Amino acid sequence: MLYTETTKTLLIVYHSMTGGTRQMVEAAARGAALEPAIRTRLLPARAADASDLLEADGYIFGTPENLAAIAGLMKDFFDRTYYPALDRINGRPYATLICAGSDGHNAARQVERIATGWRLKAIAEPLIVCTHAQTPKAILAPKVIRPDDLKRCEELGAALAVGMSIGMF
Ligand SMILES: Cc1cc2nc3c(=O)[nH]c(=O)nc-3n(C[C@H](O)[C@H](O)[C@H](O)COP(=O)(O)O)c2cc1C
Repeated sequence: MLYTETTKTLLIVYHSMTGGTRQMVEAAARGAALEPAIRTRLLPARAADASDLLEADGYIFGTPENLAAIAGLMKDFFDRTYYPALDRINGRPYATLICAGSDGHNAARQVERIATGWRLKAIAEPLIVCTHAQTPKAILAPKVIRPDDLKRCEELGAALAVGMSIGMF
């Protein structure tokens, strides 16, 4: 793909310990890749910094809900980038993907508060996938996200990319 200076970039930042969130963001990236006018960057939270945010035109944040909060490494990413990006990314579109055992809403709320501070524009409700792992063994086991849930993530990625491409967001 030949990208020009005017090509818009969708940045996906995520953390995943047991693979669920990773599968979700990879599905979103696949969906976004259906829109050839958008360049998609998929970055683990620990590898992303404020310059990645500033250079992008839209965002997907993907995180597990751990201990009723976003994952620590996602928090670290937001802690490192919040003030460097403040007032420099206003109005850009974003979406949130949460992988949770049985809830996910606290993590979604936390991302929403941070995004509100950045004056980002949510293009959809947070997409929460519950893995229903209950025991410590199941919670620590690798996750397999169901095809219908992956499809929802793929559709969200595609919707954001198409909207960015046609200037809807
Ligand atoms: C330490 C820890 C705390 C967790 N706390 C929550 C929680 O508060 N709410 C919830 O719904 N799931 C909770 N979970 C379950 C994870 O969200 C779930 O396993 C999810 O698949 C993790 O995403 P990942 O596969 O991308 O790492 C917790 C898991 C761990 C390891």
